[in-house]
Amino acid sequence: MIEFKDVHKSFDNKQVLRGINLTVQEGELISILGPSGGGKSVTLKHIIGILKPDRGEVWVDGQFVPKLSRLELQELRKRFGVLFQSAALFDSMSVKENVAFTLRMHTKMTEKEIDHRVAECLDQVELHGVEKLDPDELSGGMRKRVGLARAIAMKPDYILYDEPTTGLDPKTAIIIGELIARLQENLKITSVVVTHDVKLACGISDRIALFHEGKVAAVGAPEEVSKGDGEMIRKFMEGQL
Ligand SMILES: Nc1ncnc2c1ncn2[C@@H]1O[C@H](COP(=O)(O)OP(=O)(O)OP(=O)(O)O)[C@@H](O)[C@H]1O
Ligand SMILES: [Mg+2]
Repeated sequence: MIEFKDVHKSFDNKQVLRGINLTVQEGELISILGPSGGGKSVTLKHIIGILKPDRGEVWVDGQFVPKLSRLELQELRKRFGVLFQSAALFDSMSVKENVAFTLRMHTKMTEKEIDHRVAECLDQVELHGVEKLDPDELSGGMRKRVGLARAIAMKPDYILYDEPTTGLDPKTAIIIGELIARLQENLKITSVVVTHDVKLACGISDRIALFHEGKVAAVGAPEEVSKGDGEMIRKFMEGQL
């Protein structure tokens, strides 16, 4: 379980988070929606301790994240698969080495075990026979899939997705959305998806949280939230915010 309690964060004089309260339940897929620059990526970074709150609390499975030591943070991060906004693959490494990266760093798996695990992860994202290719030989959608395969390599308890469909054409975006939903079902993990794609979020999420002016303006099942009152929510759901 992930918990934000009254989390505030400013940069220079700019208040980005102004009291975020949010609980992510075990096993759910929750999407965070909000305008560009609204603090969505900043929020994700608090979960794995890349950023610390100025005020308020961030908890993951009973651990108070801002007070964890470097070693404890390393341990925590092993339990998270992260698909960063840039979804950067290492361009100088093959697909196999990209997916194997954390396995080589954190485990003592043999080459055979690594081959097996890499194939298993690529299978989960429906890619086959691409191990030897370099990232620049892949399409945008394939690169996202490889990023996803890398994120699940360590069998994480959580996956954090930052804008998983940005930069993809609408058709590929839908395929990646379906893949995220299927991974969630197959792997029984807890997922947080940051996106500005309302349709994607409503299609794949158990709950959605709308960020507005540094706070959670609404949270609940997509059909509940979209029924909510108020100009702001309506605009939001229509993609105008
Ligand atoms: N490390 C940092 N130092 C200074 N300012 C930062 C830092 N990280 C984020 N910000 C600022 O915080 C604000 C929120 O950024 P954030 O990346 O969380 O937005 P976002 O909601 O993810 O937007 P987008 O949808 O465009 O990705 C921005 O104004 C950004 O410039
Ligand atoms: Mg962002």
